[in-house]
Amino acid sequence: MEYLKFCLVVLFWIKFADSVLSTDAPQTPAPLPKEKLLVLTVATEETDGFLRFMRSANYFNYTVKVLGMGEAWKGGEVGRSIGGGQKVKLLKKAMEDLADEEDLVVLSVDSYDLIFAGGPEEILRKFQQANHKVLFAAEGLIWPDKRLADKYPSIRSGKRYLNSGGIIGYASYVNRIVSQWNLHDNDDDQLFYTKIYLDPLQRETLNMTLDHKCQIFQNLNGAVDEVLLKFGTDRVRVRNTAYDSLPVVVHGNGNTKMYLNYLANYVPNAWNYEHGCSHCDDDVVDLSQLKEYPNVLVGVFIEQPTPFLPEFLHRLLTLDYPKDKLRVFVHNNEVYHEKHIQKFWEENRNVFSSFKVVGPEEILSQGEARNMGMDLCRKDVTCDYYFSIDSDVMLTNRQTVKLLIEQNRKIIGPLVTRHGKLWSNFWGALSLDGYYARSEDYIDIVQRKRMGVWNIPYMAHVYLVKGSVLRNELKERNYFVLEKLDPDMALCRNAREMTSHREKDSPSPESFHMLRPPKGVFMYITNRHEFGRLISTANYNTSHYNNDLWQIFENPVDWKEKYIHQNYTRIFTENFLEEPCPDVFWFPVFSEKACDELVEEMEHYGSWSGGKHEDKRIAGGYETVPTDDIHMKQIGFDKEWLHFIREFVSPVTLKVFAGYYTKGYAVMNFVVKYTPARQAYLKPHHDSSTFTINIALNNKDKDFQGGGCRFHRYNCSIESPRKGWSFMHPGRLTHLHEGLPTTNGTRYIAVSFIDP
Ligand SMILES: *[C@@H]1O[C@H](CO)[C@@H](O)[C@H](O)[C@H]1NC(C)=O
Ligand SMILES: *[C@@H]1O[C@H](CO)[C@@H](O)[C@H](O)[C@H]1NC(C)=O
Ligand SMILES: *[C@@H]1O[C@H](CO)[C@@H](O)[C@H](O)[C@H]1NC(C)=O
Ligand SMILES: *[C@@H]1O[C@H](CO)[C@@H](O)[C@H](O)[C@H]1NC(C)=O
Ligand SMILES: *[C@@H]1O[C@H](CO)[C@@H](O)[C@H](O)[C@H]1NC(C)=O
Ligand SMILES: *[C@@H]1O[C@H](CO)[C@@H](O)[C@H](O)[C@H]1NC(C)=O
Repeated sequence: MEYLKFCLVVLFWIKFADSVLSTDAPQTPAPLPKEKLLVLTVATEETDGFLRFMRSANYFNYTVKVLGMGEAWKGGEVGRSIGGGQKVKLLKKAMEDLADEEDLVVLSVDSYDLIFAGGPEEILRKFQQANHKVLFAAEGLIWPDKRLADKYPSIRSGKRYLNSGGIIGYASYVNRIVSQWNLHDNDDDQLFYTKIYLDPLQRETLNMTLDHKCQIFQNLNGAVDEVLLKFGTDRVRVRNTAYDSLPVVVHGNGNTKMYLNYLANYVPNAWNYEHGCSHCDDDVVDLSQLKEYPNVLVGVFIEQPTPFLPEFLHRLLTLDYPKDKLRVFVHNNEVYHEKHIQKFWEENRNVFSSFKVVGPEEILSQGEARNMGMDLCRKDVTCDYYFSIDSDVMLTNRQTVKLLIEQNRKIIGPLVTRHGKLWSNFWGALSLDGYYARSEDYIDIVQRKRMGVWNIPYMAHVYLVKGSVLRNELKERNYFVLEKLDPDMALCRNAREMTSHREKDSPSPESFHMLRPPKGVFMYITNRHEFGRLISTANYNTSHYNNDLWQIFENPVDWKEKYIHQNYTRIFTENFLEEPCPDVFWFPVFSEKACDELVEEMEHYGSWSGGKHEDKRIAGGYETVPTDDIHMKQIGFDKEWLHFIREFVSPVTLKVFAGYYTKGYAVMNFVVKYTPARQAYLKPHHDSSTFTINIALNNKDKDFQGGGCRFHRYNCSIESPRKGWSFMHPGRLTHLHEGLPTTNGTRYIAVSFIDP
């Protein structure tokens, strides 16, 4: 009963309050037309950030007046130390002419690190709702003078402290504030406004307040966790989840510049789910319209033993770009790779406009080598672009260099990823202390579910930089900083020193060789096309003769590309195989390289068995039908070989022996050598297998004469084995067979007894 009474009272009170408020509240004033809003901003240079600001302003049709363009900046390093007085001075001067315009509302904002998320009508409406003459942006952190905290009026919720990055007010009132300025250009603007605001008398007479709940201004510093992207059909906004507001002005103050870059990849209309990327084709270069292709310096970095290096080098040749416009600089840090470079150089040195190699004997650190490559382009005014690529990047898209040039950005990299992994060549975000953080969109970008050109904080492995940028914004020479310290020490020192910067946009030690944008330059990654992949250099054992053969686990895609026959997949799509004798199937499986490298590997090992009956390598120690051979196990290749059988032979088995599911297991895997001087043939026999594969590793008539295989039951011989092709036949009972004599030269075959 008591409770009900209480509820009724509350209900009555709410009703009462409601009516009181609705009658006493001032009539909502007539909305101001959008022509009454003038945006003022100070910018001395057209930085990437400024151009982005203007793009967002133009999109919403703001009227913007830029103050100070072309003037030298004297306002100190804003964001790093106290400064910004020059901004107030310029604003004060501009306001003198504007103060008397009736109903004019001015919005004074920063521009290098700020974007609009909504239009002028919305700002004016929210300003009028705030019911004050002047409204400042607010933030949760107090700067620059913490001692002033107590002087701030207390508030129940919202951001308590003034931020001078955004001010909106009636012109005459704003004028009355800025006309009080009489300090120096490098004095602090925020402190100046703070002091006026904290003066109770001025606060009342100038009718000032703060935008505590981010209705208009969102400062990101200290508030990154409060904001989310809100996707609409045409526009993307930022939602402040703490106050459930949709701020109109988004400001990457303090150390949140990178976060603003992320937001601006979407807001206001850069990318959305319906239309994808809307700016990607703005300002592109049409290479076909140029009289001549630009000159590109290609910097190649081989900093560790890298699988598939010959294939990597070969891809430089297949780039679709005039070779006489390409100069090549190679830093090779590995003695192991000298033979590969030497071969490539001998065959192709005249293909490119120039070809310079710095080898391991120079003992350059990675940082020094990267500085050297970049500097070659920087110093040469005819160098239009610097294309840096590491040896672990397999560019499968021959158009890559053209596509990057056409995108027309100062620094841009193509997205490359580790096959089947989320590992890529960029970072989508930084943690607040400057280390790696995964951005909300990282996975979608890596998987190309969101395609576009993305402003990102770091990248590595492969990127294109404009020569003009190297000679201006990036003119500092040792960009990949490493003094004469040993690399580990230099790395630690760099990491230490960089993290102590107030802006903290510093790399972690792991990112040491990542490219980091200099202040004010945006750096992009594009995933508009497939460009290629990153290969794994981990666990690369270079103690064999042909080490890439062992890469079947670590780099399966590249392994397949190099070692599996070009027509292998046609077995499944076009029934591309033959049956020369009953139940003897014949199909392409190995590439020329696989055959050659396996033979080389065996000859390098050299311990052929001699075809004796006594054989210590097998259980029982006795072989009834011995061949002159080397087992895969002897060269440490048995795990890789069995994997090859499961991946590439088992599918064929299933196709030809329908219903038989092989375990893909085999103990006897070996390469046989037939030569008249040693063992030339093998007498009729059965194999201890359910089925046997027999891959020809070289060419009849070129490498040997004679050879082949004969199946007795069917009186059927195959006398012209094809290099890279395999036979597959049942091992026992029906398929008694013999190896026909090799009459001249040497014949090699690889054999496995599967499912013994
Ligand atoms: C800006 O103005 C143009 C031309 O008047 C108009 O087509 C466009 O819709 C306007 N944009 C917005 C966001 O109001
Ligand atoms: C501020 O100005 C509004 C009208 O724009 C007025 O309604 C309000 O009372 C003023 N507030 C103060 C504290 O003077
Ligand atoms: C590399 O291969 C050789 C020869 O098979 C082997 O002895 C060695 O243990 C391997 N090294 C590593 C690190 O696996
Ligand atoms: C693949 O088959 C085509 C004929 O269908 C042939 O021209 C080509 O040389 C084959 N590729 C190889 C590597 O043998
Ligand atoms: C086997 O085939 C050959 C011809 O390919 C023929 O000359 C020979 O008589 C056949 N032998 C038997 C036992 O059928
Ligand atoms: C054997 O092969 C060599 C070249 O490999 C050739 O010179 C020679 O004539 C061949 N001998 C016969 C009998 O075919």
